[in-house]
Amino acid sequence: MIEDETPTIVACPDGPLLVRGRVELTRPDGTPIEQRRRTVALCRCGLSMIKPFCDGSHKSSHFRTGDE
Ligand code: FES
Repeated sequence: MIEDETPTIVACPDGPLLVRGRVELTRPDGTPIEQRRRTVALCRCGLSMIKPFCDGSHKSSHFRTGDE
């Protein structure tokens, strides 16, 4: 079976961006960020203590994206 490697990004309402598939994550200086899972949640509320990944802080802060 050939696995579809096309990455996808889903914006979760009031939450992170879910990135699925093979992508390369880097810091602003170009340093690679280790990705241990094929699906990662990227913080977009700015409150995570493990940026760029979501740690669930958006829930307690009642972060709202305005998405449906
Ligand atoms: S989106 Fe989840 S901690 Fe920021």
